[in-house]
Amino acid sequence: MKLILLGPPGAGKGTIAALISEKYNITGISTGDLFRQAVKNSTPLGLKVKEIMKKGELVPDEVTCDLVKERLSKNDIKKGYMLDGFPRTIPQAETLKEFAEIDMVINFICNNDVVVSRLSGRRVCRDCGKIYHITNMPPKTEGVCDACSGELYIRDDDKIESIKNRLEVYKEQTEPLINFYKNMNLLKDIDSSKTPKEAMEQISEILG
Ligand code: AP5
Ligand code: MG
Repeated sequence: MKLILLGPPGAGKGTIAALISEKYNITGISTGDLFRQAVKNSTPLGLKVKEIMKKGELVPDEVTCDLVKERLSKNDIKKGYMLDGFPRTIPQAETLKEFAEIDMVINFICNNDVVVSRLSGRRVCRDCGKIYHITNMPPKTEGVCDACSGELYIRDDDKIESIKNRLEVYKEQTEPLINFYKNMNLLKDIDSSKTPKEAMEQISEILG
């Protein structure tokens, strides 16, 4: 099974990707996580994308497509995979068609007020990447990851100015993918403003 998770920032793609990986045993690939890892390690790629990400702009298509192509050449994706945050532009989707055959695109529908409140309260574990929210999904101990005791931090792009820009970028550059995949008969909508459990029920119905 080869899936794409499509949706605005804060719609819950990363949260649901972790649950899908666990339930269906498929590898999740998040371009945002790959870029953040590169920034953390100050690799040449990380240095190139750091400021772009902080502002909430998109990394150039060629850089992003090369990264995904490279990732999809690894062995752990043989059983299937799920792309979270890729593609994000029509040119990225056209390029993906050249090297992968996608089975389904899950379109996360969530309104702006909900995503802004989710992103403003998000905390992420610096070590294992587990995602929390200060009120919706708080850790047992404030600032500490339940899973690995790592430190929780606020993403650079979760400041209000970046959030606003990310939502605009989504509308202009990523939303057109909804029609792109609808025309390919691959699109399945879910209402992701519900709880993760309810979102997973919708996904289970779709995936069977
Ligand atoms: P990326 O990391 O992909 O960020 P994003 O798309 O903006 O999405 P988020 O990760 O912010 O949101 P999410 O939908 O995963 O929500 P989450 O589950 O965390 O990209 C970051 C940057 O990298 C981009 O801006 C760009 O610069 C670059 N980049 C990445 N891919 C690229 C590409 N293809 N091309 C070019 N550039 C690219 O949840 C959010 C919060 O809500 C959390 O606090 C969570 O606890 C809470 N929450 C989640 N679900 C629920 C729920 N059901 N109920 C209540 N709370 C919930
Ligand atoms: Mg995410």
